[in-house]
Amino acid sequence: MATDKKTIKSYDDYALKWQKRKRSGKNIAHKFLEKPAMYKKLPDLKGKSVLCVGCGTGEECEHLKSLDVEKIVGVDISKGLIELAKKSYPDLEFFVMDMENLDFPKNSFDLVYSSLTMHYVEDWTKTLKSIHEVLEDDGVFLFSTHHPVKWGAKTNRSEEKGSFLMGYEKYKDGRCEVFGDYLNTRKIDDIWFNEFNVTYYHRSLSEIIGDILKSGFRITDFIEPKPLVEVSKENENFYKIHDKIPLFMIFELKKESSCQRKTCRRF
Ligand SMILES: C[S@@+](CC[C@H](N)C(=O)[O-])C[C@H]1O[C@@H](n2cnc3c(N)ncnc32)[C@H](O)[C@@H]1O
Repeated sequence: MATDKKTIKSYDDYALKWQKRKRSGKNIAHKFLEKPAMYKKLPDLKGKSVLCVGCGTGEECEHLKSLDVEKIVGVDISKGLIELAKKSYPDLEFFVMDMENLDFPKNSFDLVYSSLTMHYVEDWTKTLKSIHEVLEDDGVFLFSTHHPVKWGAKTNRSEEKGSFLMGYEKYKDGRCEVFGDYLNTRKIDDIWFNEFNVTYYHRSLSEIIGDILKSGFRITDFIEPKPLVEVSKENENFYKIHDKIPLFMIFELKKESSCQRKTCRRF
């Protein structure tokens, strides 16, 4: 299984709270940074078939449906989240499924959309292959994920303060302290909202880009979104920090047609 079992259990147990938090608009990182940037990147979807991977409680599927798609399917590894998605949007199709082993016929979708899910996956090559297979030729895989500059930092979440440090301090007397680790791939155990145990994987950009290029996708865009200025009214510090330090990043990948792939191999 691609995702750590503890994380799946957390999403299952926390499903109702997750849905409430999402709908309350309190998740400002989603509302003022990630969703606006992802939705801005969506191509014209009229009449297209779309797979939403890591769909959670289904809100993004509802949004994609509203863009006149012909077909929208949501999948998530958490049974708890999918149950809530089905209840909330009974006219949409949802399945419990691991993105590492997508169970759809080859070439089924024009777009695979995945928001903030790839960092849970240990082995990107399997997942990218699985997504590549279910996409049509020239289909697009649009995904957002943790930005390694922020999520590889040394983290301290105490009552008094939260700090995320990436860098070093070198003293004239020879002492040296290094904060964070950007270059080394590793599993990170974390606790969100003081109660949500989660495990994700940190990877450098070169590792991510290497896996993407091996998978037969072409990178057609890369975005490091800044927050909308409107967030300042709700949380000034969020704006202050993430106008300078990236939180998430977005990749737009294209599956080259089999003809293009053969041409590539000739050179
Ligand atoms: C941060 S949530 C994002 C949910 C939704 N996309 C959103 O933005 O609100 C990450 C989601 O990825 C799902 N997930 C984690 N690993 C997965 C996997 N291997 N296959 C499918 N879904 C997975 C989790 O269950 C969770 O719903």
